[in-house]
Amino acid sequence: MFDKDLYFKHLNTVSFGKNIYIYDEVTSTNDILLNGDFPKNSVVVTSLQTKGRGRSGRVWIDEGKSLIFSILLSELSTNVLMPLNIIAGYSVCDGISLYAPAKLKWPNDCVINNKKVSGMLLEASFTGNNSSKIVFGAGINVYNEVFPDDIAHKATSVYLNTGSKVYKEIILAKILSSMEKMINDYVDNKLYIENLWQTYSAHLNKEISIHINGSKTNVIERGILPTGELIVEDINTNNIKNINLGEIGYDFNS
Ligand code: BTN
Repeated sequence: MFDKDLYFKHLNTVSFGKNIYIYDEVTSTNDILLNGDFPKNSVVVTSLQTKGRGRSGRVWIDEGKSLIFSILLSELSTNVLMPLNIIAGYSVCDGISLYAPAKLKWPNDCVINNKKVSGMLLEASFTGNNSSKIVFGAGINVYNEVFPDDIAHKATSVYLNTGSKVYKEIILAKILSSMEKMINDYVDNKLYIENLWQTYSAHLNKEISIHINGSKTNVIERGILPTGELIVEDINTNNIKNINLGEIGYDFNS
């Protein structure tokens, strides 16, 4: 059940999410937009997702208590996909932070008190060097009161972090309002993702563990580059290294 009136009352955009398609159940909201023919900036939202995809071959398990949505973004050149991913993460944090302070674990897992509250997946189809379709999707644990034993130590929900009643429609409206403004500002060269990282990062200047080619290294997170790469300092050698998604598995301690 999705309250459209409540959503539109809080949506403050020119285009993002003005077309919203609400489903009771889908396999994957990303797939609906990737495979269908929808107007630009359409949003798909569902009450239940049965085959949610995550990053690195993971799955996103949905028990019907999450906000699950995807948005069809405008085509952009491939070198901005990583910054776009980061910006989308900032907006998801903004939406969740209406209720509880949410931060980002690079590149864009959203955490509250270091427990994951949202996962996101940006997918694109390509024609030559340009993307012909870009779809961003997020799953946000909103109403969950408990989690399965195997993930209980690392997962949380918005509800578990707030004393007040939570509305997924208001969270989605805020995410889209924030995302439209930030993406427009980015395209107009008025937003620098590297400057905002200090506001949104859960681990800036903290020790984290990363795995590069199977070996674990302890590093200090020092920021991000305009490309979205993570800047880390080796704890033993003080060498600075830039990490991009392709080359590491990561596992942040604290
Ligand atoms: C992750 O944590 O690995 C990313 C999870 C992304 C899940 C969302 S839910 C909406 C959208 N549709 C999908 O199939 N996946 C994303």
